[in-house]
Amino acid sequence: MPLPFPPTRQPTRLPCAILREPTMIDVRSDTVTHPTPAMRQAMFDAVVGDDVYGDDPTVQQLETLAATILGKEAALFVPSGNFGNQLALLSHCQRGDEVILGDDCHIVWHETGGAAVIAGVQLRTIASPDGVLAATEIQKRIRTGDDIHAPRTGLICLENAHSNGRVIPLADMQAVWDVAQQHAIPVHLDGARIFNAAAHLGCDVRDLTQYCDTVMCCLSK
Ligand SMILES: Cc1ncc(COP(=O)(O)O)c(C=O)c1O
Repeated sequence: MPLPFPPTRQPTRLPCAILREPTMIDVRSDTVTHPTPAMRQAMFDAVVGDDVYGDDPTVQQLETLAATILGKEAALFVPSGNFGNQLALLSHCQRGDEVILGDDCHIVWHETGGAAVIAGVQLRTIASPDGVLAATEIQKRIRTGDDIHAPRTGLICLENAHSNGRVIPLADMQAVWDVAQQHAIPVHLDGARIFNAAAHLGCDVRDLTQYCDTVMCCLSK
């Protein structure tokens, strides 16, 4: 029988002040939303432990669930979307590698230059109207020559849904994936809002994640 998620111990009622619901709807951003009382209660009741020793069944179940839903071999729970994106850059690239990505994406605009400081990579941006990266433009920027002065193309990054609110159609993702495959270059998907993208396209999330090697998704959006 599947275990309840998250694993629970004997429930204790949270103090009312913490459970109080916000009284207004704030439409500035999806990042200002609050967890519902049920979400807070589930967190409060969750069994926790030292994750390094593998003693945290809640995190383990969350990671297994995420890997299953996203169609990947494994998942890692990290504290923020920035953290997840930076881990992807570090995992796929060597220092000095070049990353091809949209000029208005989160990694370029909102990660305080972390790609340079933390991962030590160079960003090669492409104009991406509506968040869509044209596969033909990516193709032109992939370093294929044997010039010893040139950086190596280490990664292509996509963002879907884009933080400008646009959703990249599946066909555009596939076109990028096909070019990446031809050159054996990995693809990372900033999927902070991937569940919104799948809902908009009316497809399974795995229809999107089939076109990337790694994906970051946010539980806060
Ligand atoms: C597209 C995108 N990627 C990454 C992030 C980073 O997420 P976090 O704020 O959890 O670091 C955000 C945050 O809004 C985002 O919109």
